[in-house]
Amino acid sequence: MSDAAPAVEHAPAKINLALHVRARMPDGYHALETLFAFTDFGDRLEARDAEDWSLAVVGPMAADTGPLDDNLVLRAARVFASATGYPARHAFRLEKHIPTAAGLGGGSADAAATLRLLNRLAGHPLDMAALEAIGAGLGADVPACVRSVTSWGQGRGEELRPGPDLSGMAVLLVNPRVAVPTGPVFRAWDGIDRGPLRQDWQAGRNDLEAPAISLQPVIADVLGWLRACPGAGLVRMSGSGATCFALSAKAITHPDAPPGWWVMPSRLR
Ligand code: C5P
Repeated sequence: MSDAAPAVEHAPAKINLALHVRARMPDGYHALETLFAFTDFGDRLEARDAEDWSLAVVGPMAADTGPLDDNLVLRAARVFASATGYPARHAFRLEKHIPTAAGLGGGSADAAATLRLLNRLAGHPLDMAALEAIGAGLGADVPACVRSVTSWGQGRGEELRPGPDLSGMAVLLVNPRVAVPTGPVFRAWDGIDRGPLRQDWQAGRNDLEAPAISLQPVIADVLGWLRACPGAGLVRMSGSGATCFALSAKAITHPDAPPGWWVMPSRLR
């Protein structure tokens, strides 16, 4: 059976085109309003039939990945199997391209790809709402990643409605290769509600930029570098950083980046 072609699922990277933090909730999470978008760029997940769950991580960002048993791919697989009674087991191979702790939802994208892939292999026992509900238990961004289309998000990010069609827009992702864990950035938010996210999301903001820059000042350099790129339209940080993006209807050209920075041109899906 292991000779058969693997089942394959793409795990698009997530970006937050805007992210307004509105309140700190009693459980430590934050009420937010965001516009999620997804790129053609992402991770690639393969599954082969096997006796038990296993995971191998390969690819340019494999070295950044933490302990395999904590990986959201295996956690998502176990949760899916216990929710649906899915009897099969798989050996997963994750080709890791999305930098971790980078504001691109890498782990969430992998969890969501696992849920979609297993649901497909199982003959679609769960509808999208049920799949998103399972995803919400794995992380605040996982439901949006299950959809992987432009979506407005609120609550912790798990309350979703369809967003505008921005597919084909050019995006340039830049990360200075400093890992920025999400929790500390949210905790560094100053607690000031700067108002709701409206339809004109371009006029919005990412309220986590200032706290992320306070922890990793190089993020301000990334934003400045992107603003100087010819053709860069909107420039903003994604999620809790450190990845920043430029977004434009036209191609974005860029000079050589400072040594060690990660630069990835892509398009919105
Ligand atoms: O849900 P997830 O594990 O992806 O979230 C990581 C961390 O980000 C949480 O532990 C929390 O500190 C922070 N977070 C938050 N408010 C949100 C989403 C995430 O404070 N809406």
